[in-house]
Amino acid sequence: MRLTWELLSERARTCTACGLCGTRTNVVLGEGNQAADILFVGEGPGYEEDKQGRPFVGPAGQLLDKMLAAISLSREQVYIANIVKCRPPNNRVPLYEEATACLPFLRAQCGLIQPKFIVCLGATATRHIYSPDARITRERGVWKEKQGIKILPTYHPAALLRDESKKKEAWADLQALRAAVQAGA
Ligand code: URA
Ligand code: SF4
Repeated sequence: MRLTWELLSERARTCTACGLCGTRTNVVLGEGNQAADILFVGEGPGYEEDKQGRPFVGPAGQLLDKMLAAISLSREQVYIANIVKCRPPNNRVPLYEEATACLPFLRAQCGLIQPKFIVCLGATATRHIYSPDARITRERGVWKEKQGIKILPTYHPAALLRDESKKKEAWADLQALRAAVQAGA
């Protein structure tokens, strides 16, 4: 059967492929423009996301909105997803097995959207999409192309909330993204 968004969200809604299914309130598949040029990928739903079933709607999400606005993008223009679709208890980092179990959803989303750019927000997304041994402090801002998609790791907005000193580098990454998008448009 051809994969559609409807089928994908139904599969996610009822997914029991990893232990996170036992503690979730809502599955957070992602949202945004299903034909977006840019796909942003975070780590996993937090408290607010789990409650609302929407990605990046808590404090980190508010900063993400500002980051997008800084390069003249709105949430409606991009697609926003996470490595795991169900909230890890106490917002812990998803286990390797959880991320691996959930990655087929992200791959399917990527196949439907066919983005030109993927922005990995933070270490978890960077490890699973960009390179398993990537370190965010070292690889942020360093583009890599995979299967015709340009991938850019940058800091997670939650990390910017914890450490203001990272904002300068994150800003530089956003500017690089804007330039690449304009060059590719
Ligand atoms: N942090 C994430 O990584 N993803 C969300 O959706 C919200 C916070
Ligand atoms: Fe399924 Fe992903 Fe949720 Fe695990 S995190 S139960 S793999 S949707």
